[in-house]
Amino acid sequence: LASIEFDLSKVAEGQQVVVKWRGKPLFIRNRTPQQIAAAIKDDGAPMPDPQPDEARHKPGKPEWLVLVGTCTHLGCVPTFGGGDYGGWFCPCHGSHYDVSGRIRKGPAPKNLEVPTWDFVSDTKIKIG
Ligand code: FES
Repeated sequence: LASIEFDLSKVAEGQQVVVKWRGKPLFIRNRTPQQIAAAIKDDGAPMPDPQPDEARHKPGKPEWLVLVGTCTHLGCVPTFGGGDYGGWFCPCHGSHYDVSGRIRKGPAPKNLEVPTWDFVSDTKIKIG
């Protein structure tokens, strides 16, 4: 299936744009320095699917998160700004994801998936 390109200059700091990719929503989020610091601070916290924040973004570009926007429990679409960990909350059965997209509480077993993506220029990325 097709790859897509996306222009990151459309996403202001602290904002998220949702695009459709392979029939699923993709979250493209421009994190604030405070959010990045919070994500790194939690690297050692107990979590169901442990992953350091740096494994979830490209080297040297911690502000950009690209995530498949479906809950790893049963596939609902989590919303940003809810839950107990400063990230996404899935209202279907109460899964809390942090600002790195890592599952922290609730029935979801895995972190929000990071799809295959990369930079094609300073401001443009290719997903898939
Ligand atoms: Fe998200 Fe069940 S689908 S918690």
